[in-house]
Amino acid sequence: MPTITWHGHACFDIEHGGRRVIIDPFLTGNPKADLDATRLPRLDAILLTHGHGDHLGDAVPLAKRDNAVVVATYELALFCGEQGAPVVHAMHIGGAHEFAFGTVKLVPAIHGGMVEGDEAGRFTTHPCGCVVTMGGTRIYHCGDTALTMDMQLLEGHVDVMLVPIGDNYTMGIEDAARAVRFVMPKVAIPMHYGTFPVIEVDPERFRKAASAHAQVVILRPGESWTS
Ligand code: NI
Ligand code: MN
Repeated sequence: MPTITWHGHACFDIEHGGRRVIIDPFLTGNPKADLDATRLPRLDAILLTHGHGDHLGDAVPLAKRDNAVVVATYELALFCGEQGAPVVHAMHIGGAHEFAFGTVKLVPAIHGGMVEGDEAGRFTTHPCGCVVTMGGTRIYHCGDTALTMDMQLLEGHVDVMLVPIGDNYTMGIEDAARAVRFVMPKVAIPMHYGTFPVIEVDPERFRKAASAHAQVVILRPGESWTS
């Protein structure tokens, strides 16, 4: 079973069988991060849901450090390559690919497509969520998104759902609980809240709203969950 560690905001690392991937590695400048990016253990892959600064974060420096593959939508992968990431794997929404660490499928998210640092707007892209399967556990990171009907397509295909609850930029608690009801995972872990004043919410309210549909696990930055 994989071990899932929250590093604050939308950043999780997932370790299984000696391989480690990180999703949306926003550590530098993240007031809730539990560690400095340089202290992360060696990474095999870096998965990105979109190009906003609070998700792209330390992706390129970490990719360089570990020669880790950056997995993202075509445009965002190309941008990371141009920024110096040594290995990138471009995919797109609806597609899956099997890597040595496990399988990644990109799924829809409704959000902004700007890529931080892309001054000319050449790499503007669709944001996404991803379903990462490692050690037989299917982990759905929603990315930044509104509640969508598309989430219903994932019902029966997700064990652990990493769900934004902070409102303002993403779903708030009420919609996040409806999203959990759409997907019916075994476990739901809230994210994308508490980092900045505008997304300050009480995760216990999410637990109340969603616990009829899944076991809600509230992590503190640096804490891990394993089934
Ligand atoms: Ni965003
Ligand atoms: Mn965000």
